[in-house]
Amino acid sequence: MTDSLFDLSGRVAVVTGGMGQLGSAYAAELAARGMQVAIFDRETEPGSGVADLSSERIRSFEVDVTERAAIERATDEVVSEWGVPHLLVNNAGIDAPPDAPAAEVGPFEDVPEEAFDRVMDVNVKGTLLCCQVVGRRMAAAGRGSIVNISSIYGLLSPVQSLYDFRREVGETFVKPVAYSVSKSAVLNLTRYLATYWAQSGVRVNTLTLAGVANEQPEAFVEAYEARLPLRRMAAPGDYVGPIVFLASDASAYMTGANLVVDGGWSAW
Ligand SMILES: NC(=O)c1ccc[n+]([C@@H]2O[C@H](COP(=O)([O-])OP(=O)(O)OC[C@H]3O[C@@H](n4cnc5c(N)ncnc54)[C@H](O)[C@@H]3O)[C@@H](O)[C@H]2O)c1
Repeated sequence: MTDSLFDLSGRVAVVTGGMGQLGSAYAAELAARGMQVAIFDRETEPGSGVADLSSERIRSFEVDVTERAAIERATDEVVSEWGVPHLLVNNAGIDAPPDAPAAEVGPFEDVPEEAFDRVMDVNVKGTLLCCQVVGRRMAAAGRGSIVNISSIYGLLSPVQSLYDFRREVGETFVKPVAYSVSKSAVLNLTRYLATYWAQSGVRVNTLTLAGVANEQPEAFVEAYEARLPLRRMAAPGDYVGPIVFLASDASAYMTGANLVVDGGWSAW
């Protein structure tokens, strides 16, 4: 029996950041459900340990989401080959890398402007540009679903004590502010666009996630899991169902919302 509520076959998706840990899991599952999937990523090869992207329904486009011309070019190709996308998942995102220069993970008072701008550029402006370029075509077609990815750190402050293990070995480490600010901005970009496009048939929602296990130091994982009601970090598969739900007609009456899938993190 096919379930028409969740049926995505024959539809077209754009997944930004699809070469990464979570985006590759979304792309693989959407393709398995019969969607044509365009990955917009500045990388054209999958990173190690990511989901299998060998499906012939998946195509990769080299796109930096901070560059409008590149998004336009790739979107035009997708439209001419497969038609106007039904789904856009704004998943490309960056945080300060684990080996970030000391100043970037130092006290808030001294965070370098350039580090703040870099994160805001990808996480906020990149999301906005993809919404402009792909959303415009969806609105003209009179349908579409946009999913903007946020984080519990965009809803709530990071818990700085989770990083005590770094301080205990003499490092200065403050979880930087830019990621949190950028992921909060996504929440209201979503609401703004949900109302802006409500009459055009384009739904816009946020999916808010908690941390995914990815070979983090044991001390971090222990502290993180102790803070989580479900007592485990997420696996990429935990977020695939919510993506399918937001992509499909099962969420037809949902727009401007924030679906929080966080193992209970925000419940206490
Ligand atoms: N992993 C987590 O614990 C977690 C938790 C909450 C939210 N999120 C969010 O989920 C999303 C995916 O996270 P992930 O863990 O899979 O990250 P990841 O680093 O594995 O993948 C991110 C992908 O985005 C791409 N990317 C980065 N900058 C880009 C740019 N300018 N243009 C195009 N592509 C670009 C990278 O090349 C990479 O393939 C991010 O938005 C992240 O903030 C992740």
